[in-house]
Amino acid sequence: MECGKTDCVEVRIVECFEIIGGKRLQGEYTLSGAKNGVLPILAAALLPEGESRILDCPGLSDVAAMVQILEALGCRAEREGRVLTLDPQALCCTEIPAELMKRMRSSVFLMGPLLARCGEVTLCCPGGCDIGCRPIDLHLEGLKKLGVEIREEGGLFRCRAARMKGAEIRLPFPSVGATENLMMAALGAEGETLIRGAAREPEIVDLQHFLQKCGARVRGAGTSVIRVKGGRTQMAALRGTEHRVLPDRIEGGTYLAAAAATGGELLLQNACPDHMESFLQVLETMGCRLLRSPDTVYIKAPGRLRPAAVRTGPHPGFPTDLQSPLLTLMCLAEGESQLEETIFEARFRTAEELAKMGAAVTVSEGRARIRGTGRLFGARVQAPDLRGGAALVVAGLAAEGKTIVENICHIDRGYDTLELGMGTLGAEMIRKGQNKKK
Ligand code: EPZ
Repeated sequence: MECGKTDCVEVRIVECFEIIGGKRLQGEYTLSGAKNGVLPILAAALLPEGESRILDCPGLSDVAAMVQILEALGCRAEREGRVLTLDPQALCCTEIPAELMKRMRSSVFLMGPLLARCGEVTLCCPGGCDIGCRPIDLHLEGLKKLGVEIREEGGLFRCRAARMKGAEIRLPFPSVGATENLMMAALGAEGETLIRGAAREPEIVDLQHFLQKCGARVRGAGTSVIRVKGGRTQMAALRGTEHRVLPDRIEGGTYLAAAAATGGELLLQNACPDHMESFLQVLETMGCRLLRSPDTVYIKAPGRLRPAAVRTGPHPGFPTDLQSPLLTLMCLAEGESQLEETIFEARFRTAEELAKMGAAVTVSEGRARIRGTGRLFGARVQAPDLRGGAALVVAGLAAEGKTIVENICHIDRGYDTLELGMGTLGAEMIRKGQNKKK
């Protein structure tokens, strides 16, 4: 955004997507490295001595924000295209700048590595999409089990860990972030740490793979019990490595939804169908034809989508991050669908924007009832959050007429130039700047 002055009225340039709907998407798209994979790995790069090279790093504003935080802490970061080189050699600060903390949820992942490497960290509550209450109590409770002293004062958490000791931690909910944070913190705790009730997302398995390549003794990721052998000796032995980030299953699901919404045909390259199986099965229920190979997914959409009944849940359940794009597909299906959200209660705000496009969605207590009519109409809508914004783009691609999606800064956090990717598949979609009074 640039700020400028015209006629003494402060204006700022905000961007939006302008979409002319009704084009069948066709072609091939290669997935980027996963946003929710690369962010914890960037934090983990603080742990080893020496440089780490992260390959297939997506061009996202959340990645840029994480790099800004790492540089503010004293790390050296160099980006060449999709390769990001990080060197924590000159790490000299353990207080994360509040204005950077507020920009995204993933800043909380820095707690574990800074405690393991430096024995202290100071931070405020992280920011992130407004998709519901997003406490960090599970992170803090787990860290306390490892012997971390946490004082909350003036909105800051001051954490000290003179000597962390391995412990058995039981997560009451399979929190993705808490699992990742505690895996990393436990590397600085003497002895063995057990994390029971761990989240099982593929991004956690990828983080474990990165840590193992650095020399860490971590195992069990992908199951609900993760074991970490930590301590000074283990920490001293860690060395930087090279790692290619796993494909972004949520970006993949979003592109598949766009093909399904427009009656199109798409071949996803650099995909991992096993990581998306719950979503693929819903697409098949709704009438799409899918072909899977070890690293591709092919979809051919039906003329008309069928309704479905879906409930989100922790992996391998239906991913909450694809709930909003699915909501759009259900609005386009013919007949009544049900969609229950069990992770983030505020994600259904997207339904209010879809209603401006003719959708008929009734939401009550985490459940949506969708009376699909098969049609949506272009309108001016506001992206409420990252995945809700993507869902509105999918809706605009299928709608009759022109759709303007505003607040696309949310979308840029998790999709690398979405308009270019969709454009290669035949979408009529451009990014426009517009003056807005401050
Ligand atoms: C990660 O967020 C992802 N973000 C989210 O993706 C994703 O939706 C989420 O996992 C669930 O899969 C990244 O990986 C960067 P959680 P995270 O801890 O770690 C509650 C996107 O669009 N909870 O698994 O924040 C929490 O309120 C983003 O890419 C606590 O109560 O999710 C929520 O209801 C959005 N206390 C549930 O657990 C805690 O201490 C799941 O949260 C932590 C979480």
